[in-house]
Amino acid sequence: MNTSLNRRNLVSLAAATAVVTPVRAATPERIAVMGTGNVGSALGRRWAAMGHTIVYGSRAPDADKVKALVAETGHGATAATQIEAAAKCDMILIAVTTKAAVEMVKSLGNVDGKVLIDATNLLMLRDGKFDEPLDGTCIALQIQEAAPKAHVVKAFNTTNAGVMFDTKKIGGPISLPIAGGNADAKARVAALATPLGFEVADLGGADWLRMVEHLGRLYVGYSIMHRPRRIEIHFTTWG
Ligand SMILES: NC(=O)c1ccc[n+]([C@@H]2O[C@H](COP(=O)([O-])OP(=O)(O)OC[C@H]3O[C@@H](n4cnc5c(N)ncnc54)[C@H](OP(=O)(O)O)[C@@H]3O)[C@@H](O)[C@H]2O)c1
Repeated sequence: MNTSLNRRNLVSLAAATAVVTPVRAATPERIAVMGTGNVGSALGRRWAAMGHTIVYGSRAPDADKVKALVAETGHGATAATQIEAAAKCDMILIAVTTKAAVEMVKSLGNVDGKVLIDATNLLMLRDGKFDEPLDGTCIALQIQEAAPKAHVVKAFNTTNAGVMFDTKKIGGPISLPIAGGNADAKARVAALATPLGFEVADLGGADWLRMVEHLGRLYVGYSIMHRPRRIEIHFTTWG
């Protein structure tokens, strides 16, 4: 297992932007993976193989599809209700449907001090047009408001579940922009993302949650509008 964080893989977009420090890079995490769909199953399987303890948080932990995912994940992974999974872990991946995300967080009870990794994206297509307003709505900020003492980190919303599972298939470098108000929480998220093959770019604090979320809109929007052509995001720093 190699969860050590390579500083060269951390890209800072501006001199004023702090580069994430790998404070607890080598520490195995207990991660509640909320949602057993595309994103939850991709990251849950990869993180379990990296030595982290995965508890899938599902509305139906005894369902056959969840049992099959737990078996496929291996490495001691389990499934529980979302409330039970959150109670057992101090990192929580939010990979439920976007519309359910904020209410799901509210339903978890006390998540003070926990790291909430928000992978959600707010963009859908209806009749060839985006059906969500391209306004300032930000799910990550709503989650932070719902859980003010948790550490929200926006991450994994600017790429695809298949890429999360296998970054090598793109054949080039991929940036993973992240943002959040707590530096230690971001370092722990970076330590989960870097071994997957992402170049983690810490764009900034809580005021950058919205920016990273909107990058996800660009990513999804392109994929929807230019199908089957797709993009991955890669930052080059200069100056
Ligand atoms: N697909 C991608 O490539 C991708 C990439 C980046 C970000 N995202 C974002 O990540 C999130 C998950 O995407 P996905 O593609 O993994 O979705 P998905 O395949 O539909 O899976 C979502 C999971 O959420 C759970 N769920 C569904 N309705 C729920 C509800 N009302 N309350 C609580 N949990 C519910 C379900 O798990 P259980 O049945 O086990 O409860 C379901 O498997 C979305 O916000 C999406 O925008 C997706």
